[in-house]
Amino acid sequence: MLSHRSAYVTDTAPGSGALRAARSWLHSDAPSLSLNGLWRFRLSPTAPATEEFAAADFDDSGWDGIPVPSHWVLQGDGAYGRPIYTNVQYPFPIDPPYVPDENPTGDHRRHFDVPADWSDAERIVLRFDGVESVFKVWVNGDEIGSASGSRLAHEFDVTSSVRPGDNVVAVRVHQWSAASYLEDQDQWWLPGVFRDVTLIARPAGGIEDVWLRTGFENGRGRIDAEITAGAEAFPVTLRIPELGVEQVWATAADVVPLAVGDVEPWSAERPRLYDVTVSTAAESIALRAGFRTVEIRGDRFLVNGRRVVFHGMNRHEAHPERGRVFDEAHAREDLARMKRFNVNAIRTSHYPPHPRLLDLADELGFWVILECDLETHGFGDVGWAGNPSDDPAWREAYLDRIRRTVERDKNHPSIVIWSLGNEAGTGANLAAMSAWVHARDTGRPVHYEGDYAGEYTDVYSRMYASVPETEQIGTDGSRAPLMGCTPAQGARQRTKPFLLCEYTHAMGNGPGALDQYEALVHRYPRLHGGFVWEWRDHGILTTTPDGTPYYAYGGDFGEVVHDGNFVMDGMVLSSDVPTPGLHEFKAVVQPVRFAFDGDDVAITNLRHSADTSDLRFIWRAEHEGTLVDSGEMEVPVLAAGESARVPLPRIPVAPDAETWLTVDAVLAAPAAWAGEGHVIATAQLDRSASRPVPEVRRESGWRPSGGTLTLGIAEFVGGSLVRLAGRDVAGPRLELFRAPTDNDKGATEEVDGSDASVPGVSNAELWRRDGLDRLTTRLLSVEQTAGALRTISKVSAANSALSVIVESVWSLVGGELELRVEIEPSRGWRTVWPRIGIRFDLPDGGAPVDGADWFGLGPLESYPDSLRAARTGRFSATIDDLGVDYARPQETGHRSQVRDLTLTSAGAEVLRIVAFPDTRGRRPGFTLSRHTPQQIARAGHPFELPRSETSHLIVDAAQHGLGSRACGPDVWPEFALRPEARTIRLRISAG
Ligand code: GAL
Repeated sequence: MLSHRSAYVTDTAPGSGALRAARSWLHSDAPSLSLNGLWRFRLSPTAPATEEFAAADFDDSGWDGIPVPSHWVLQGDGAYGRPIYTNVQYPFPIDPPYVPDENPTGDHRRHFDVPADWSDAERIVLRFDGVESVFKVWVNGDEIGSASGSRLAHEFDVTSSVRPGDNVVAVRVHQWSAASYLEDQDQWWLPGVFRDVTLIARPAGGIEDVWLRTGFENGRGRIDAEITAGAEAFPVTLRIPELGVEQVWATAADVVPLAVGDVEPWSAERPRLYDVTVSTAAESIALRAGFRTVEIRGDRFLVNGRRVVFHGMNRHEAHPERGRVFDEAHAREDLARMKRFNVNAIRTSHYPPHPRLLDLADELGFWVILECDLETHGFGDVGWAGNPSDDPAWREAYLDRIRRTVERDKNHPSIVIWSLGNEAGTGANLAAMSAWVHARDTGRPVHYEGDYAGEYTDVYSRMYASVPETEQIGTDGSRAPLMGCTPAQGARQRTKPFLLCEYTHAMGNGPGALDQYEALVHRYPRLHGGFVWEWRDHGILTTTPDGTPYYAYGGDFGEVVHDGNFVMDGMVLSSDVPTPGLHEFKAVVQPVRFAFDGDDVAITNLRHSADTSDLRFIWRAEHEGTLVDSGEMEVPVLAAGESARVPLPRIPVAPDAETWLTVDAVLAAPAAWAGEGHVIATAQLDRSASRPVPEVRRESGWRPSGGTLTLGIAEFVGGSLVRLAGRDVAGPRLELFRAPTDNDKGATEEVDGSDASVPGVSNAELWRRDGLDRLTTRLLSVEQTAGALRTISKVSAANSALSVIVESVWSLVGGELELRVEIEPSRGWRTVWPRIGIRFDLPDGGAPVDGADWFGLGPLESYPDSLRAARTGRFSATIDDLGVDYARPQETGHRSQVRDLTLTSAGAEVLRIVAFPDTRGRRPGFTLSRHTPQQIARAGHPFELPRSETSHLIVDAAQHGLGSRACGPDVWPEFALRPEARTIRLRISAG
């Protein structure tokens, strides 16, 4: 029997006791005391029946110590339980508002000293910035109150319980509670006191709250101040020293809108902030005001009168060692990284971040959608039966959450939209939240994706809409049905600004098609861009039993239910390394467009409002990747939206090498987030003189061959290559398989215009059914003629009648070894293929192939629908750096459009390969890896990859695109690889 004392655990009411009204998180000079640090801690597997631990004189000397803030499951090396990862599923029975008796409960205690001079304080407040999921507080044995709303701030009035000198605070935290039903976000469940705990002295005559609602119109700033303070606090003075503003309000009644004159506006591009103080005789509050006006005009979302395009990221609080415990230096670096990658917006999925994050967003410059801590997605699995969003019993909890969200962060200029939450179905409680926001803040619109019919929100938002569907939303004349809408509702939605609150799922290798979405934004002004899902992988740094470190995902902690690696879907790896997908994003959304036209280039400034005075335009000319000339272009300063035609530099064109001109827009001076010279936009122009591809020599006089044969550097036995330039080599063999990416494993089928997607069959599954990962070969013939060898093989898989005929011709052309491989599928293949390639296995032999130097696209991996970050040049990389350490090993490392490739061993050249384009001008790509696709496909984590003594080179005539089907659209047809005849033609020489 649970004691009545624990009733708050399953109470839908959001709090009790001396809980105070929500207010801004302010920087005040009133005294405060951080209670962060080491607390005494005891974990119980169930909620203890008694609360004796809360007594002031309770002996906790036998307890462990735990840092606050922290999540107990990330402390003590497993001694306090383990993290659980689920996406939609609830890790407890769906039985609202109840939770199992197996409810890990953490009791925390610490002593603190209240300074003697705090006795003049009018009130003493104890603030918790985040506790997951419900908690109850005692001070000196007095019960203070309880609260839920894990990612929200709660303040308790503890005035009558604290005393000068030694005090003791006790906090009981339960992992599961009624509130857990409202916190079903796709992330780790991480209980604990995970944000700051602070004791605050509130002076008599202080300022309880202040809200500076700023506006910007016609070059002038405006402040509507809302001061919450007792009559005795007045006069209140607002000062903006930089603007010479000093406004004294003698009484509350005097607080009227303030015209502050000429100001520079705040924008994500030029985040101009003005220091403001709001003071009384007793307290001074420091704020940083940014002047901007947010408005919706028709179907446009405008800031300072100009349309905003979100090039955004969904950002969770995730740190590989700390979980959701805030690390300001790490967060600042993360945001600076976003800026370096042309990210201009953040959706705080799916809860308010640590309050300091918003200070950083104001300062560095981001358009922020600030989202409330709310998600009930698991009810979707039971047809939304019992969903709290439409149940009056939960109404107050919903309203409390949105009040705490808006009130805490309302002063931030970076916040331009409030979001009610994520994936909580729909219902009256959400509508009530929206109504509350509308009444409270008329200066910012309300977002909630789940309001499909647009009944109570101001912007139309969707997640993972396909490119064609997004286009239809943007098109005025389109009557195509919209998901979840009647025709009338659809018509209403089309009158609103549209954004993709989530798109291009960045799980594993991908996403593809970023550029297709971006193109729509420039065609249809109703479309305001979107937010990639998501910024970072949430891997938790842990070790295997033998001590090998790795980033854990769902299932790695023995969870009963979990969602595997679906939590590893970021643009940045858990180790902070940006993925190639992020580089692609940067290139796709670059805010300067270059359009080459003859001897000119048209340069367009695509920014919201900033001009290009912060940029320089530098160029370089390269012959086959070697720099031959460089300089700077004279480009007039372009206002936002403006274009100019500029003559291109005259560059030397090589007669016998490719000539490329590269233009970079770079920062002219250091910014807070990048150094001078940081590249924000790039374009390349091929200036090569045309050069014919050498004709294929057709041999004749073929006769059967056997035994051994030497052709230049190649040695064959029975038609099989055994050595190249004296090194053992196996292959080439046909390789049609790639280790499935997370997108290849995605199994949803899109059904545009209906309610989301239906289960289908993944490509990975189809590839296995066709046996692409287990092909066998039958040699049909081996023939030779003077200076040439020809083999024909039939490649097929067990229990399949499908096959591929592979004809390989080795010949000496002017003393150089040439290999031509013709690949010809039989009729009847019905799926897409991951690749059409040939694989060479290069055993170690004492000098392993461990690096590559190539001229082609680089420096990072690229695929047919993710080519924008790649440029033509000469690059080199070690075998380990060629691939990306995705949390679950998968296809990686493909370099497209290679012209020549040198394999190296400890820096020494081993083999040089020249790759010719096919008769349609298509160039092959390559992958160099320590593992075969089959080995990679078998590993669940990097540490599961076997030790390797062989390097594998795959030359691909083609690769399948990436798409983002792990949660979204499959590869666009143009970039899908259908079984087809292909030719690979290489010249191979000794290094
Ligand atoms: C969305 C959800 C996100 C995340 C994503 C898939 O439906 O809002 O939180 O789960 O799918 O990774």
